[in-house]
Amino acid sequence: MKTLGEFIIEKQHEFPHATGELSALLSAIKLGAKIINRDINKAGLVDIIGANGSSNIQGETQMKLDVFANETLKAALEARGVVAGIASEEEDELVIFGNDKACHAKYVVLMDPLDGSSNIDVNVSVGTIFSIYHRVTPIGEPISEKDFLQPGHQQVAAGYIIYGSSTMLVYTTGCGVHAFTYDPSIGVFCLSHENVQFPKFGNIYSINEGFYWKFPVGVKKYIKYCQEEDAKTKRPYTSRYIGSLVSDFHRNLLKGGIYIYPNTAQYSKGKLRLLYECNPIAFLAEQAGGKASDGFNRVLEINPTELHQRSPFFVGVKSMVEDAEKFMEEFK
Ligand code: AHG
Ligand code: MN
Ligand code: MN
Ligand code: MN
Repeated sequence: MKTLGEFIIEKQHEFPHATGELSALLSAIKLGAKIINRDINKAGLVDIIGANGSSNIQGETQMKLDVFANETLKAALEARGVVAGIASEEEDELVIFGNDKACHAKYVVLMDPLDGSSNIDVNVSVGTIFSIYHRVTPIGEPISEKDFLQPGHQQVAAGYIIYGSSTMLVYTTGCGVHAFTYDPSIGVFCLSHENVQFPKFGNIYSINEGFYWKFPVGVKKYIKYCQEEDAKTKRPYTSRYIGSLVSDFHRNLLKGGIYIYPNTAQYSKGKLRLLYECNPIAFLAEQAGGKASDGFNRVLEINPTELHQRSPFFVGVKSMVEDAEKFMEEFK
């Protein structure tokens, strides 16, 4: 049995100039995940389900657990002194940490503290997503928005925690994707899936089909393609949609599938946020042999201009994303 802590230390030796700061950062996320996991598990028993009575900058109702997860991770990251600042779905502006150590920290973190909030109250899987970059502002100078507005291919590490039938932490530092399952009896994440790769072929498609009439023609045509009978490509595919990106992606990663949140008549750039939802998931997808696109281009190459920027998102088994892109191109 190998723990996440042991694995991170072991991997640190693969980076010749490692100072241990990234390991400390990942360990802060691990601690935050354990606390969030504990509270999600007892959410029905204490006064922590339901709306918080506030909304975030994107106009979404904040759930109590959205706010709790945000505060927990923020505190865990600030305490280690290895992060200069964070940006979060639940924070209007970026947060610059004020302590002495943080001014000299070389990393910034972007996060979706609780993904799939609408599922909390009904006991369905939710997640946490994180994305880590080197700051671009020289150490000693105050960080600014430009440290956060970097294209996704510059990520140093990214990952998610899924609070599901079991809790798992899945991450990459650019050397494959590794997954750890939480054993609550000993309070430890244990390596359960080393070097996870997408299956070569998939037969699951995940999209909120309730918005079918609002989708671009290319997406409508691709959905119909998924539903057609064809023995060679094992169609019709099966449809699965939880409504929590982390959970939908995690299932498709292990079983083989595609997740799509396209632009719709309501959301001209889709709903998902580029910096703390699409980019980290795209980094994981590519590291697992999959593909992530905005329908036409590689997500990791988009140059962001705003913290809460959105992007259409097509992610999953490489060949499935390529098929969807062909329909987007043909019917654009
Ligand atoms: P969040 O809970 O962090 O705001 O994210 C919700 C996102 C994502 O997790 C999910 O895939 C998507 O919203 C679901 O949107 P629809 O309800 O429009 O399908
Ligand atoms: Mn939200
Ligand atoms: Mn989310
Ligand atoms: Mn969220």
